[in-house]
Amino acid sequence: MELKQAFKKRATVRIFADRPVPEELITKSIKAALHAPAYNHLWEWGFIRINQADDRLALVDSLDLHDWWDREKLRRAFAHLPQEARKVYMGACPVQRTMMVRAPELIVVVYRTKRMENSARSPVDLNAHAAIWMAISYFLLSLAEDGLFSCTVPPGPTAKAKDLLDIPNEWEIAVLLPIGYPRFTPKRHAHPTDPSPFIHEDKFRGFSLPTTEKQMG
Ligand SMILES: Cc1cc2nc3c(=O)[nH]c(=O)nc-3n(C[C@H](O)[C@H](O)[C@H](O)COP(=O)(O)O)c2cc1C
Repeated sequence: MELKQAFKKRATVRIFADRPVPEELITKSIKAALHAPAYNHLWEWGFIRINQADDRLALVDSLDLHDWWDREKLRRAFAHLPQEARKVYMGACPVQRTMMVRAPELIVVVYRTKRMENSARSPVDLNAHAAIWMAISYFLLSLAEDGLFSCTVPPGPTAKAKDLLDIPNEWEIAVLLPIGYPRFTPKRHAHPTDPSPFIHEDKFRGFSLPTTEKQMG
């Protein structure tokens, strides 16, 4: 598959089919992630597979992950957002915990933080965080190539989860990735297709998200 097709195919999926994921496809996607650039040439990254149901429950508890079901409350909370974004939240909130527990695979991506990351004074202090997210992108594109999907969920406070998973102090959890084949045909949300509002000549001209159908595919 061409890279362009993988870009188009990748989408966030939160509800998975009851079909096991071949281990070699996970290994293949981790290999793909390792092609990503590392700011210090050390690739201080880890992909922790959480296999047992009990371990998953302990993990989601430690991260205080909940399904938010109350549609009226959700509608009020996201009333200020554009319709497309509101739709995403209405679909996502009710399965934030469930998808972690039910997905055929659950991977916790960890990385060694850079000194100063917790009190970043400039973008360069966030290099370790930036690099792991490049790796996550490569990982997701490789999954898409094989018809596998995920949902990127960065955690809230991680102290308890780090204890649970034996993650050293100077390492951090970047994201939780439930992975599987989609239960339903993945619906790609509108993404900008017209690059021109994003391209600036000489100086930054400001930002507003394109709205016409032609600009959002
Ligand atoms: C940094 C980051 C954090 C995200 N956090 C969450 C999250 O906590 N829960 C969730 O369900 N989706 C999360 N998402 C997924 C987005 O909702 C999704 O990528 C977006 O709606 C675009 O849809 P697409 O991925 O299908 O193109 C996150 C995505 C990114 C890049």
